[in-house]
Amino acid sequence: MNKYERMFIEALNNGEVSLKKFAEERGIDVNGLYSILEDLKAKGLVKVEEKVTKRVEISEEGKEYLEKGFPEIRVVMKGREGKGVGDLTPDEKRIGLGWAKRKGLIEIKEGKIVPTERGIQALVRYDLAEKLRRGESDPELMRRGLIKIDEIKEIRVIPQRPIEIKEEEGIGELTKEIIVSGAWKDKQFKGYNTEVPGKMPPIGERHIINRFANRIRRIFVEMGFEEMEGELVESAFWNFDALFQPQDHPARELADTFYVKKPNRLPLPEEGLVKRVSEVHRDKWKYEWDPEEAQKVVLRTHTTTLSARKLAGLKENNGKFFSIGKVFRNEAIDYKHLAEFHQIEGIIVWDKANFRNLLWILKEFYRRLGFDQIMFKPSFFPYTEPSLEIHAYFKEKNAWIELGGAGIFRREVSIPLFGRYPVLAWGLSLERPLMMELELKDIRTFYKNDLREFDQISKRGVKWLL
Ligand code: PHE
Repeated sequence: MNKYERMFIEALNNGEVSLKKFAEERGIDVNGLYSILEDLKAKGLVKVEEKVTKRVEISEEGKEYLEKGFPEIRVVMKGREGKGVGDLTPDEKRIGLGWAKRKGLIEIKEGKIVPTERGIQALVRYDLAEKLRRGESDPELMRRGLIKIDEIKEIRVIPQRPIEIKEEEGIGELTKEIIVSGAWKDKQFKGYNTEVPGKMPPIGERHIINRFANRIRRIFVEMGFEEMEGELVESAFWNFDALFQPQDHPARELADTFYVKKPNRLPLPEEGLVKRVSEVHRDKWKYEWDPEEAQKVVLRTHTTTLSARKLAGLKENNGKFFSIGKVFRNEAIDYKHLAEFHQIEGIIVWDKANFRNLLWILKEFYRRLGFDQIMFKPSFFPYTEPSLEIHAYFKEKNAWIELGGAGIFRREVSIPLFGRYPVLAWGLSLERPLMMELELKDIRTFYKNDLREFDQISKRGVKWLL
């Protein structure tokens, strides 16, 4: 029996003990007491009662609302001042406007915010704000991440009769002193009490990256897209050649691409396709296409491989496809670069599709993800024309940051693959917008898998993470 166990029994002989309080007062870990507790319980010397109490905790966001007012109320206020949607702060726009409309506090007329009767009343007294102030466990407050409900478990130990402190019943814990002094030699070792039930470890949670991926998956599925899947290890043919990337293109070099040694070669697809692709390279880039080069094995550098494969097998005239998958690049790692990351890929096959549709779908996707401010920049990819990059403003670094690329697949890509044009296409970063949404300063955070850091992130009240 160790010192704490003895103290515990002494305390019990003086009456009821609250486990948490007992441990806290002595600065010890409660876990160290479970074994003796189970032992006493098994012998019928004590009874244990558990009581769970709930405590409402107001989140950082909740506190901010208490101070500055709920965003929907601030929207009503601006409306009363005669202001319009353009005068709202990003938070008021992103959060406040939706709630104000849904709750019938305002109407929008020609860009102006017009408070309703109910809206005016809410300015005087807003029930939700009252509830928050009183710390009520209201479901809407919960859903909006303005409060958190903590469960406090209290374990009371009630002695049933006096407990004898028995010393010398053998060595329970082998310490340095016992070994050095040799005292163990003429003592018995205490047996394990195998009757004591073990404790369940805290159960696991899905990784943040996967939760975000699921959210993106849902957005595309809601827009009628079908998911594409495929291999991480690909032939250069699908990663580069099928996408009209010439064989001497710098991106193919070891400096950018990871090549696989074993196997060092993958078979080419069906002959007709290889012929069409190689001819386009020969005719347009004007060089001798080498089938050996196309058989080289790479870790895919983009998920555009999946789009190429999908098109090559497509029978239907129309289709919308997306994928979320890992890609690899031989890249110097820093706050916004990883050598292994995820891309959100997509294609739309439709004979009436045009560049405007592409801009719209990208805008709509980011809007649904919660990014209102994105910027399109002209760009270049060997496989698209026209091409663009998407940038978004990253507060934490006070900089615009690239989120991905898009364009219309060139005829040189889509005609050899499946004989049709146009196909809208894009490939977007998954980690970067997530880093921005979570206001992280460093993209590497996702892969350090430091649970304390993840815990901090979850506490920020990001609703979909809860
Ligand atoms: N594959 C490009 C990249 O990895 C993105 C892209 C995909 C661009 C499809 C245009 C069309 O950056």
